[in-house]
Amino acid sequence: MKDSFNRTIDYVRIAVTDRCNLRCFYCMPAEGIPYEPKSHLLSYEEITRLLEVLGGMGFQKVRFTGGEPFLRKDFVQLLENTSELEAIKSIHITSNGTLLQRHIPKLKELGIKKINLSIDSLDKDRFQKITRRNDFEKVMQTFHLLVENDFKIKLNAVIMKGINTQDIIPLAELAKDYPVDVRFIEEMPFNGGYKENVEMYSARDIYADLIKHYPDLEKLPSKHGDTARLLSNPGYKGNIGVIAAFSRTFCNTCNRLRISSKGDIKSCLYDDGVFNIRDFMRSGVTNKELEDKFKEIVRLKPKDGFEAEKMRKIPTAAMQSMSSIGG
Ligand code: GTP
Ligand code: 5AD
Ligand code: SF4
Repeated sequence: MKDSFNRTIDYVRIAVTDRCNLRCFYCMPAEGIPYEPKSHLLSYEEITRLLEVLGGMGFQKVRFTGGEPFLRKDFVQLLENTSELEAIKSIHITSNGTLLQRHIPKLKELGIKKINLSIDSLDKDRFQKITRRNDFEKVMQTFHLLVENDFKIKLNAVIMKGINTQDIIPLAELAKDYPVDVRFIEEMPFNGGYKENVEMYSARDIYADLIKHYPDLEKLPSKHGDTARLLSNPGYKGNIGVIAAFSRTFCNTCNRLRISSKGDIKSCLYDDGVFNIRDFMRSGVTNKELEDKFKEIVRLKPKDGFEAEKMRKIPTAAMQSMSSIGG
């Protein structure tokens, strides 16, 4: 499906829960966010139906996010259902890695091998400071298990001034020994609370650190829909990437729609939710009506994250947590 800027939109990101067992400070306040009651969340049958409709419209890729998707009890059931949908060609998951180890055999059985893992520091204390939980060892164990089982891993690290810039090179070194993409992300103002005096560590700053340490880094060509600018370092098994999530330099090839756990559709990460598909579905509409609604939403997708931000009714700084958006 094309939007009005001739971008092919064929990728949907679905947050299956707003709950999380970590409290990453760039994502949530220490006390957490008020969670939605279960009846407000899309059921796995409703998500499967949406994927069926989207699959029929040419959507081929789904990424399940959260909160932490493995916190949801019927998540594996949802993965099973999704893997039976012929139109959906690839299933991806973004996870914090604390709860997924025991699901590895099932994921393999379903052919789901593309996992994005959040690891913001290789230093146990800093990891604990950032996530406000003591799960560093478990997450690293998950990382190694996934590597051993040939999963295709992208590692996500949000880089923040005064917090973890010293982790950039140690994290990038993981790409030397393992075939993983290590991606550094600009912090976005979606943290469930307003933070004053945050000085951004920009994609440009991150790139400068990388090139200083790795003078032979080469830019790889980007593909439609890539958020990360990928770089390769000679002799390294994996790539290194920078995601300009706040500078928004990749909007011209955006290929995605998002659905929050309670069914709010966002045609851009920076809009404040354009339509609630859960209530529409629960009002008894047909699949054709759902399809028409998706077409309308895709047609109205804004040109970029700056335009989307201008149209917001709720100010960006007003506290939406990434845990309810799904990243
Ligand atoms: P894939 O291309 O499927 O690997 O997705 P991804 O790399 O975008 O997914 P992931 O869930 O790992 O997100 C990595 C970072 O990119 C997170 O900080 C996201 O919030 C950010 N991100 C993902 N999509 C968008 C987007 O549409 N716009 C912006 N500005 N940032 C995004
Ligand atoms: N800014 C940038 N990235 C964020 N994420 C969560 N909150 C933020 C934020 N405020 C990242 C997580 C995860 C991905 C889905 O989004 O680290 O890797
Ligand atoms: Fe949980 Fe991910 Fe938010 Fe951290 S960034 S609190 S792991 S949803």
